[in-house]
Amino acid sequence: MKTAPYTRDRRLRLTPWRRALTAETSLSPADLILPVFVHDEAENTPIPGLGQAHRLSIKGVVEVAKAAHKAGIPALALFPVVKHPLKNSAATEALNADSILCRALKAVKDAVPELGLIADIALDPYTDHGHDGLLENGQLANDATVDVLTQQALILARAGADAVAPSDMMDGRVASIRAALEAESLPDTLIISYAAKFASRLYTPFRGAVGAGGLQAGPPDKLSYQLPPGNGREAVKEALRDAAEGADMLIVKPGLPYLDIVAALKSRTELPLISYIVSGECAMLHAAAAMGAADFLPVLLEQLICCKRAGASAIITYDALAAAQAL
Ligand code: PBG
Repeated sequence: MKTAPYTRDRRLRLTPWRRALTAETSLSPADLILPVFVHDEAENTPIPGLGQAHRLSIKGVVEVAKAAHKAGIPALALFPVVKHPLKNSAATEALNADSILCRALKAVKDAVPELGLIADIALDPYTDHGHDGLLENGQLANDATVDVLTQQALILARAGADAVAPSDMMDGRVASIRAALEAESLPDTLIISYAAKFASRLYTPFRGAVGAGGLQAGPPDKLSYQLPPGNGREAVKEALRDAAEGADMLIVKPGLPYLDIVAALKSRTELPLISYIVSGECAMLHAAAAMGAADFLPVLLEQLICCKRAGASAIITYDALAAAQAL
């Protein structure tokens, strides 16, 4: 091969210093958000399929929060496990200012004030049917649900959440929450919207963890509100709507199979984007590692840098601690 322009692309990859200078993407603990589950029990209990993730006591959440902060992780995303007697069709426990989630937020804020706290806004941990909103005549009641979600966001913000993260996919909830936060003198609370959340079959370990698995009355799916997995243009439309309603950051969920949505949004909005590697994806990697088919840490770090390459400025992953400690 001796003809101009003498192109040899491998020249850039021959040695570490060449690769260092030409790296397009980097990964650090500061890119990671750790999701945690908190329950009203004294012990921590493992969650099948989710690696190191446990249902944590309040004391356990505080310990994990300290470890995350020490490892350089900037924020936690908190999810409550609500006891069955407290679940009902009106999701009343979602509006309890002394709920397990509110108490956990206060405890972590007191113990590690520098750590960002992201509270999930949705009703599925609190309803006896497991849907993200209220049902009327067997259908999700959009506007009645938005009213409850807005109250829920105010209660969690007052309990210490720095960011509220609506994951319900009702129409108009970002605008309603933003207006309420302004009216209630909480202007600095971030809205991190699950803007493009798909009706994925990869949420099974999560639903088991919060006790919402198999509870839905009627078809066991959320197809009337979450996005069809084949619809990328509709996902972009949804996400841009949340941006226009006042969201500060946008989440695309699940993660790896949906990185094309992250890349598409990158060219359509200046808002920071977050990729959420969900529970089923986490379980797949742990299962592959357990059967000797994947080398856990290198594969995890590869997955994370690919989210960054696609355009995510942060990644939610149940393996954030392992990744941060390895980096
Ligand atoms: C629902 C919610 C779900 C997840 C986060 N929030 C599940 C669902 O929509 O049924 C799943 C996250 C995961 O699987 O890791 N508000």
